[in-house]
Amino acid sequence: MRYTGLIEHYKSRLPVDENTKLISLGEGNTPLIHLQNIPALLGKNVDIYVKYEGLNPTGSFKDRGMTMAVTKAVEAGSKAIICASTGNTSASAAAYAARAGIKAFVLIPEGKIALGKLAQALMHGAVIIQIKGNFDDGMRLVKEVAEHAPVAIVNSINPFRLQGQKTAAFEIVEELGDSPDYHFLPVGNAGNISAHWMGYQEYNQAGKSAKTPKMVGYQAAGSAPFVKGKMVDNPETVATAIRIGHPQSWDLAHTVEQESGGWFGSVSDDDILSAQKLLTEKEGIFCEPASAASLAGAMADIKSGKIPAGSKIVCTLTGHGLKDPDTAISQCKGDMILIDPVMDEVKNAILDNM
Ligand code: F0G
Repeated sequence: MRYTGLIEHYKSRLPVDENTKLISLGEGNTPLIHLQNIPALLGKNVDIYVKYEGLNPTGSFKDRGMTMAVTKAVEAGSKAIICASTGNTSASAAAYAARAGIKAFVLIPEGKIALGKLAQALMHGAVIIQIKGNFDDGMRLVKEVAEHAPVAIVNSINPFRLQGQKTAAFEIVEELGDSPDYHFLPVGNAGNISAHWMGYQEYNQAGKSAKTPKMVGYQAAGSAPFVKGKMVDNPETVATAIRIGHPQSWDLAHTVEQESGGWFGSVSDDDILSAQKLLTEKEGIFCEPASAASLAGAMADIKSGKIPAGSKIVCTLTGHGLKDPDTAISQCKGDMILIDPVMDEVKNAILDNM
């Protein structure tokens, strides 16, 4: 049967009925890729899978939540949606609003969102409101303004977002035949880690898995409120998607940590960029910097022995590498060869670099 998106596919487990008009771009059903080269480099016997959420329609996991949030907003009669965003939510909101024929207002931190995400929001015709502040300021403003203007919030404080996002856990359990032992995710607001835990618990209770995974959330060292145990006022990281100091799902995330037996950790910007490069060079998988925080964290915990040999690990790669071409190219300066257009020069370039 033709796959037409995650709401249609999982409708018995989502808050829709036969009268709900689905707003979908065919999101979900993303590849779970088994890493073939990185585990050997680590010298450890572990199975690592990456869930490549960058292959959703707008290039990030946000589409899983956005299809639900926009479907429900339209069902409730909303003519406009609003979000604060570090970039991906704005791209997704803009696309699904376009699909639904409603308006999207997006608040983004000036100069701090990756180029691809800005291009998406612009192209889909969102009203882009740049704030001279960070994501946390934007989130505060969105919550305030929604009480004074006819707009539906589609940030992950909207419970329909988490309903959509929980389906990633369903897909993983179906593919592996059970939950993994550990699930690593990059954490900003902590909506996604909470949604995954909901999904794993739901499938476990339905008898579709024998166990649930330990949920492990990784933050960038410069924006790591869960590691510090308190909010961070001036978050900073190269991984702009998770440049968040006041996470919205603070309590939910702590419940996930406790119930699943997992933990939070932080990785430096250098470790994030190295993990991103390693994935692209050794596995052929290009994710954005924030996404690589999950793998960077997993590699650190594997090396330190925190993850026992024989474990099965899933790392979510939340967004596509093409979202942030600037950061990618700036890591690879000097990696190009310039020649005159003659065969000998091409030949030499090949032989010198074999
Ligand atoms: N990875 C990427 C690529 C993201 O864009 C985000 C969040 C996260 C991880 C963290 O997910 O917030 O559920 O813990 N991006 C939001 C945005 C904040 O506006 O696009 P979380």
